[in-house]
Amino acid sequence: MTSMTASHAADLVAALLFILSLAGLSQHRTSRAGVVYGIAGMALALVATIVVASQSITAGAIALILAAMAIGAVIGLWRARSVEMTQMPELIAVLHSFVGLAAVLVGWNSYLEVESHGTAQTRIAADLLGIHHAEVFIGIFIGAVTFTGSIVAFLKLSARINSRPLMLPGKNFLNLGALAAFVGLTVWFTVSPSLPLMIVVTVLALALGWHLVASIGGGDMPVVVSMLNSYSGWAAAAAGFLLDNNLLIVTGALVGSSGAYLSYIMCKAMNRSFISVIAGGFGIEAPSSTEEEYGEHREVRAEEAAELLATARSVIITPGYGMAVAQAQHPVAELTRQLRERGVEVRFGVHPVAGRLPGHMNVLLAEAKVPYDIVLEMDEINEDFADTSVVLVIGANDTVNPAAAEDPGSPIAGMPVLRVWEAENVIVFKRSMASGYAGVQNPLFFRENSSMLFGDAKASVDAILLALSGDGRQAAAPAARQTVAG
Ligand code: TAP
Repeated sequence: MTSMTASHAADLVAALLFILSLAGLSQHRTSRAGVVYGIAGMALALVATIVVASQSITAGAIALILAAMAIGAVIGLWRARSVEMTQMPELIAVLHSFVGLAAVLVGWNSYLEVESHGTAQTRIAADLLGIHHAEVFIGIFIGAVTFTGSIVAFLKLSARINSRPLMLPGKNFLNLGALAAFVGLTVWFTVSPSLPLMIVVTVLALALGWHLVASIGGGDMPVVVSMLNSYSGWAAAAAGFLLDNNLLIVTGALVGSSGAYLSYIMCKAMNRSFISVIAGGFGIEAPSSTEEEYGEHREVRAEEAAELLATARSVIITPGYGMAVAQAQHPVAELTRQLRERGVEVRFGVHPVAGRLPGHMNVLLAEAKVPYDIVLEMDEINEDFADTSVVLVIGANDTVNPAAAEDPGSPIAGMPVLRVWEAENVIVFKRSMASGYAGVQNPLFFRENSSMLFGDAKASVDAILLALSGDGRQAAAPAARQTVAG
């Protein structure tokens, strides 16, 4: 087998490993295996690329590649070990900016290589030159948009710049105008390529990437990051065409399409169109209803909540962003364990956009070792609320808002929600009557069967655990006396 055939075989196996990785990552039960497949695929791809490259480049160049890989690996390992779960989106945004920058550099290099060596020394046939020019231009455009867009997303997510949307007059026309200019420039460049056009498209795309993401509010950044993830995939695929690297094309297409699909799922779960996210401004001007419109809310103390839970037949916990802020997942897992020991049926209902990241709640619950089989998706559990004794809404708000289902005038009307209000009793854990991410009041808090347990979610769950242990000691005491007497 020649080394070229071996390298094609390695590419094929690596591509299959990446597909297995994506399939594995789609469920938490198989996610560890998914990560292992991804690592194996990437290791194979790197080795195959270096082996093929070693036949046409000098030993010095190979040494440089290995040194760059070693430095990258050290930085990558250090960041992966030190990053907090809450900093994950900003880390991902920075990583996407690297993919974008790489695509821009590959595009420029590919153009300059053809310019200086002509088609004779490059692999491009003269009649395919126009296609090559278009590939260069498109690759640079997608890469540069991804590069600056990801940098702005990183700056907003890490609070280094204000996360409010930049509202330039006619901002949507600016974006559309830049896209139209790009199409015109591409046609021009394909017919008569030149350095000034390369500079113009690079600057145009850098400015568009910056403006596109600067115009979107910080709260929409998760959707934007997944959109940039998709762009970085297409940028990598474009670089794959320029480098004549099939694996890069396949991998780029996998990242591009999975990122686009993830953005679609997030938009659907928020009942928003992708265009409305790009247009920005969500939740900023949402009408703030006052408490009087809904009536009085009731409060409950941790001890009373513990009593209700101890006598419950079935409990569903619906976690939200507040559980992540409070880092309450460990006491929540302990409460689950204790209630199950007492014979209470406990399950979790997870909304697809609970928290601020796709899978945010699943990751936290898995970290706290909550058994996978009791963590259910919204669609799997929504029918069961009506037959549930107690629902614990832990730091969730928009994802359990009945207005989404019942009030057609609500800004979140039509968003699929967890129908917690159908349960016998609902206890809402939060610190105040403040609204959630969408900025709309939640009528759930004022329902007859709802009570508010005010305070930090972790402190509240800890207080319930304390009350339950007291209750346990009281329950155990007569039994102990009996034993002594017996
Ligand atoms: P939210 O509607 O954001 O509400 C979270 C609630 O947690 C707040 O009302 C807050 O009330 C409470 N909270 C904050 N810190 C707390 C603490 N330390 N202890 C107790 N409570 C605390 O949460 P959700 O139901 O998870 O909904 C997610 C929202 O984010 C949706 O609107 C969704 O569309 C949006 N979103 C999600 C994603 C993804 S992918 N997950 C992406 C973009 C947007 P207090 O301040 O009164 O405590």
